[in-house]
Amino acid sequence: MSSIAIIGSQWGDEGKGKITDYFSEQADWAVRSNGGNNAGHTIEFNGHEFKMRLIPSGIFAAKKGAVVGNGVVINPEVLFSELATLADSGIDTSGLKISNRAHVIMPYHILEDEYQELAKGKNKIGTTKNGIGPAYMDKAARNGIRVCDLLEEATFKEKLESNLAYKNSLFTKIYNQEPLEFEPIFEKYLEYGRKLKPFVTDTSVLINDALKRDERVLFEGAQGVMLDIDEGTYPFVTSSNTISGGIAAGIGVGANKLDTIIGVIKAYTTRVGAGPFPTELTNQTGDKIRDIAHEYGTVTGRPRRIGWFDAVALRHAIRVSGINALSLNILDVFSGFDEIKIANTYELAGEKIDYYPASLSELDACHPIYETLPAWKEDISQVKEYTDLPENAKAFLKRIEEISQVPLVTVSVGPDRLQTIVVRNPWEN
Ligand code: GDP
Ligand code: IMO
Ligand code: MG
Repeated sequence: MSSIAIIGSQWGDEGKGKITDYFSEQADWAVRSNGGNNAGHTIEFNGHEFKMRLIPSGIFAAKKGAVVGNGVVINPEVLFSELATLADSGIDTSGLKISNRAHVIMPYHILEDEYQELAKGKNKIGTTKNGIGPAYMDKAARNGIRVCDLLEEATFKEKLESNLAYKNSLFTKIYNQEPLEFEPIFEKYLEYGRKLKPFVTDTSVLINDALKRDERVLFEGAQGVMLDIDEGTYPFVTSSNTISGGIAAGIGVGANKLDTIIGVIKAYTTRVGAGPFPTELTNQTGDKIRDIAHEYGTVTGRPRRIGWFDAVALRHAIRVSGINALSLNILDVFSGFDEIKIANTYELAGEKIDYYPASLSELDACHPIYETLPAWKEDISQVKEYTDLPENAKAFLKRIEEISQVPLVTVSVGPDRLQTIVVRNPWEN
């Protein structure tokens, strides 16, 4: 097996960072291919905790290096501050590679994100305000500035001049805001270009060559399928393809290069920001889960919205992403609970449906139909073997496998690397 892709199968924050770090120990390369510093991936080992935004979570363990692919949008300031934090902790980042085709988040993207949200008022998306949407907007509009442009002074100058002229007229005439000055941005980003240069390469060539040599590549997704620009709860989504197809496009490998596609799920559901959430719990049970699992946004600190496990959303994620393995995290949260619920289908206008509606008004009218399973009293946070889990925990896991028709590869009982129960190691078969 030479590649594993790890993607979020809910609305983000499923614990992708933890699982990526875990499987990176046996990988040569760790690769990020979508999103930007809207991501916050938590990793814990040997008493350290890291929250990765742009640099792949596999940087700690992958043997040959970590790669930021062309599908990522890069805020250089965040990248350098992340590198500095890692260096302070003695982590070797010399193997980092950055795609020459990746797009750059510019200061006007961050402002535009904020102004757009303000203008949307009560319909705002609840973005992370990191300029992600506007950077991808410019990419799709074919106005974006790429990493390779930062390395060519004349090209960068021309692109920045025309972009800034447009953004300034947008800011002053539409949003009634101040314009930005050219010179400080130009100087700052030229300097970023100089600092980025040693890391920059054609990462598609690098990873395809590695795959040809049968080296092991671990692809790390950001966000989750339900936040995908095409397949998620549009418009309450992020602006990139978070599905497995986004990996092929976002690194420049053939779609047939993804061997195992692991969908990461939590034992329940969370969502940050606005948008539909049929199984949301706005009661004490939701508050209890938030408290136990510290469900506050890694990037913005916002309290995460909590809900029961949604199998309708999971089946959607499996279908659009070809997920053929599942990693279930935060099983430990239910120790001491009386019962756990799983929404297996929705009821819409008197009919049972098991697909995820595209229309937000239909989604609003959907009522989850729950199955209830007994929980368990035991603390499971130190359990190392699947067989040692309480019977009710195993029955819950079995039910998730049955209704998703996808086997579990890991079950996680705590945030630390060691709190991972391996059911099957995809690197080994
Ligand atoms: P990501 O964005 O998908 O990488 O997930 P985040 O890091 O944003 O959020 C997941 C949170 O759950 C982090 O605080 C992790 O440390 C934590 N976590 C991951 N797995 C487990 C687990 O099995 N049990 C508990 N209690 N926490 C976990
Ligand atoms: P990780 O990789 C959870 C959400 C935001 C907002 C919407 C759009 O840590 O799982 P954006 O800033 O992307 O334009 O915001 O998407 N969002 C996330 N939610 N986890 C993430 O990343 C997210 N990245 C974006 O809260 O609702
Ligand atoms: Mg996160």
